[in-house]
Amino acid sequence: MKYRSAPEAPAFLSPIAKLCSLRWNAASGVVEVIDQTRLPHTLRWCELQDLDSYCHAISTMQVRGAPLIGITAAFGLAQALSMDPSTEHLQAASARLLATRPTAVNLRWALESVAAAVRELDPADRGEVALATAQQLRARDIASCSRIGDHGLALLQALECAGPLNIMTHCNAGWLATVEWGTALAPVYKAHAAGIPVHVWVSETRPRNQGMNLTAWELQRAGVPCTVVADNSCGQLMRRGAVDCVLVGSDRTAANGDVCNKIGTYLKALAARANDIPFYVALPESTIDWHCASGDDIPIEERDQAEVLTVTGLDHAGRPQALALAAGDTLAHNPAFDVTPAELVTALVTEHGSFEASAAGLGRLRAQIFSSSPT
Ligand code: MRU
Repeated sequence: MKYRSAPEAPAFLSPIAKLCSLRWNAASGVVEVIDQTRLPHTLRWCELQDLDSYCHAISTMQVRGAPLIGITAAFGLAQALSMDPSTEHLQAASARLLATRPTAVNLRWALESVAAAVRELDPADRGEVALATAQQLRARDIASCSRIGDHGLALLQALECAGPLNIMTHCNAGWLATVEWGTALAPVYKAHAAGIPVHVWVSETRPRNQGMNLTAWELQRAGVPCTVVADNSCGQLMRRGAVDCVLVGSDRTAANGDVCNKIGTYLKALAARANDIPFYVALPESTIDWHCASGDDIPIEERDQAEVLTVTGLDHAGRPQALALAAGDTLAHNPAFDVTPAELVTALVTEHGSFEASAAGLGRLRAQIFSSSPT
């Protein structure tokens, strides 16, 4: 079957199911985020009141996902400037937020966007302008992800497959990782809304299980058929012909098209290439680091070994518990991201269209960005 039909203004999700990951509470003047460390068991919003709570939310991964980290940091800087708009505080608050997570470049991009908007202003005006800039970045993220969905949908429609389209994804690149829509999941949601039968293989994503805890939860809420699989089973599924394409996000994309994403992405790209399966990476412009010549220049976050050596779930009474998996003196190494070389990427799907993952492809994207507004 070839999916060619153009979608009729997709409804995305029913009003009841539709959520966003970060919202501005105009009444209280405070940002609220979903605490993603509680999912999938508890849907809990928490208020980010001050710079400490913003830094805590990002570093402990109450909010995570490259685009959402950036938007959260933008609001965090605005909040900090509303308390103290001095240039010294602008620099200190930016530095604190920037240090929360090293790999996702959206963090730096968002902080620089806010700083650039306020730097030359009278300090008395900085708080208000910073907040307006953060709101604009949030709105821009939603629009960009929706366009990524449209461009990714076109790629999905071009795939030949006999039954439901089987898409494999890794980690969480859905609306929980952005504000709405997501990056890799945006085309999935648009395909589902257009009546295209899709099924998603959700790679569990050890050690923090973002696939099982977040992606499966998101897809189930939206009524998209999905199945969680252990990370190690993905190669076998591809070899068996059960995967029509792999679709993942990116935390930082280098100028040569190398892509840095959640640890385990590289292995999927290798398996996809070995089995002649398209491997698509969906990302907004804000994820491209034009200063990184290649993936070798991208800093890889190393997280606590406890994430590998323990697993967290609910006990028999429904209380969250961390369980030790290994002997007490076991050492673990926990790099959170890996680099997939550009030659393994079939296409980069952006809000500006789809591009070859190469220096030439990114050059064309850059020329398009500077010559026109997003299409
Ligand atoms: O460590 P996380 O959960 O922040 O990692 C998130 C990812 O790796 C996503 O795939 C990436 O941010 C792209 S999301 C739109």
